[in-house]
Amino acid sequence: MAGVAAAAGGAAPAASGAARAAEVDAASRPVAFHGEHQAGIATPTSDHVQFVTLDFVSDAVSDLRAVMLELSAAAGQLMAGRPVGALETGIQPPVDTGEAVGLGPGRLTVTFGLGPAVFRRGRFGLERHRPRPLVELPGFSTDALDPGLCGGDLCIQVCGEDPQVVFHAVHNLVRLAGPAAVPRWSLAGFGRTRNSRHGTTPRNLLGFREGTENIVAEDEHALKRFVWAGTPESPSWMHGGSYMVVRRIKILLGGWDQIGLDQQERTFGRHKLSGAPLGADQEFAPLDLARRPIPSDAHVRLASPDYNDGQRLLRRGYSYTDGIDHSQSSASGGQLFICFNRDPRRQFVPIQRRLAASDALSAVTEHIGSAIFACPPGPRAGGYVGRTLLG
Ligand code: HEM
Repeated sequence: MAGVAAAAGGAAPAASGAARAAEVDAASRPVAFHGEHQAGIATPTSDHVQFVTLDFVSDAVSDLRAVMLELSAAAGQLMAGRPVGALETGIQPPVDTGEAVGLGPGRLTVTFGLGPAVFRRGRFGLERHRPRPLVELPGFSTDALDPGLCGGDLCIQVCGEDPQVVFHAVHNLVRLAGPAAVPRWSLAGFGRTRNSRHGTTPRNLLGFREGTENIVAEDEHALKRFVWAGTPESPSWMHGGSYMVVRRIKILLGGWDQIGLDQQERTFGRHKLSGAPLGADQEFAPLDLARRPIPSDAHVRLASPDYNDGQRLLRRGYSYTDGIDHSQSSASGGQLFICFNRDPRRQFVPIQRRLAASDALSAVTEHIGSAIFACPPGPRAGGYVGRTLLG
């Protein structure tokens, strides 16, 4: 497929009428909440995200279990396109807030993860269950972190095709989590990173195609090797789950917009319009770092598996906008970088260390938020996310 797609300038081959109809049908069908893996990890990414983290107020494991039960039940309803509770309640406030009525599920996915602080001694009594890959992320040399945009005991990643449906899910899940859990930070995004063989590769806010060399949802072998938690490094309650790293990366768009096209392309090591590696003319041409004129500080060279012990990431990032950046007299925005790892100690951490040390992209980016979560396996029918840990 890569060759054909490249010949079409990066677009996937035109689907036949029947195949296209099947794709449209799949796109309008709800995504299943129950299964071996949580939805929203190896699910082809939909166009919008809203991400929120919460902190538990209580340290009682029974409260933690009750929240996960309640949120899982609500997520199952929301992903099926149903309200989370009564809409017509007379003098009582409606249980479901109502703004998604009539809109359908829009391929909604809800993904939950637990932060390292949940396993801290003296809290829920879960310290001996803490997975070794769930490390506190080390500081990186280019970090400019704002503590208000970092961490969280629980994350909820909601993705979908309709931003109103996505917002409605977050709105209701946050309400249902209270008062046992309170929101900490949240961010909405659009313009997904490609993670499926189908369709064209979207562009980020810098105008470059993003996700060309990503792990794709159809690549079972790569998912098993680089995404799904397993033996020996993860405890059995995490098998089939994954570790999510989230970074809020501000992009200094004013500065970037002053950089010549050649230098923009050298920053990534790829051509801007086609997405092809420098020196090639097709998006999916091999990177071939030994032969092509890709600078030593280019983003794709430093992030490549060739430089990182063969390690890869499943990226599911989104762009975000954030008003005006007065220091740059420009629109403010960046990337909500989200990636899934089998073991971040061998994947995200060393890759980000290498990028922080010499990535040309660092001249126009600032990592201002950061968090890590263990996303348990998917719930079985009648079960809830976290049951493998909480019983
Ligand atoms: C604002 C921040 C970032 C932007 C705009 C960005 C953009 C890009 C672009 C345009 C590509 C080339 C096309 C592709 O294969 O997707 C790429 C590749 C990649 N990026 Fe980033 N990226 C950012 C941050 C990061 C971070 C923080 C990491 C990991 C720590 C990362 C890891 C990767 C990897 C693994 C690749 C594929 C390299 C390869 O195998 O060719 N990126 N990125």
